[in-house]
Amino acid sequence: AKILVLHGPNLNLLGAREPEIYGRETLTDINQQLAGRAQAAGHELVWFQSNAEHELIGRVHQARDDGTAMILCNAGAFTHTSIALRDAFAATAIPFIEVHLSNVFAREPFRHHSHLSDIAVGVICGFGGNSYRLALDATLQRLQTAAT
Ligand code: DQA
Repeated sequence: AKILVLHGPNLNLLGAREPEIYGRETLTDINQQLAGRAQAAGHELVWFQSNAEHELIGRVHQARDDGTAMILCNAGAFTHTSIALRDAFAATAIPFIEVHLSNVFAREPFRHHSHLSDIAVGVICGFGGNSYRLALDATLQRLQTAAT
């Protein structure tokens, strides 16, 4: 199946950006690992990063037409602000997992609310780059259950 990993604003700076919060792994490191793990399990994983809200929304719309089975989404700060991105997920109805590197609940109050969590399959946060790998594990299990 096709799996999409969506990265929102500032995640292109991963590795260099506040490493004490977000770790030293780069986005390329994370993406390559995820793609390898997905491929080993017989799936195809693609990723997309943008700092622009409309591009992320456009990519979710595209996922509707390209047969994407599941989305892993770290929407960055748009998590806390974007009703439009939420509406895009609601419109496409593709199951998605909300991912954050940091434990957003241990941080500033404005990070405690997400416009995505209540329509996500689940939320994984606080494990650094491992948050993505845990989300992929959950995705692979879900796809396997769906296929059997
Ligand atoms: C983040 C948490 C958000 O609050 C923040 O705006 C980000 C990254 C995370 O992965 O921990 O850009 O989504």
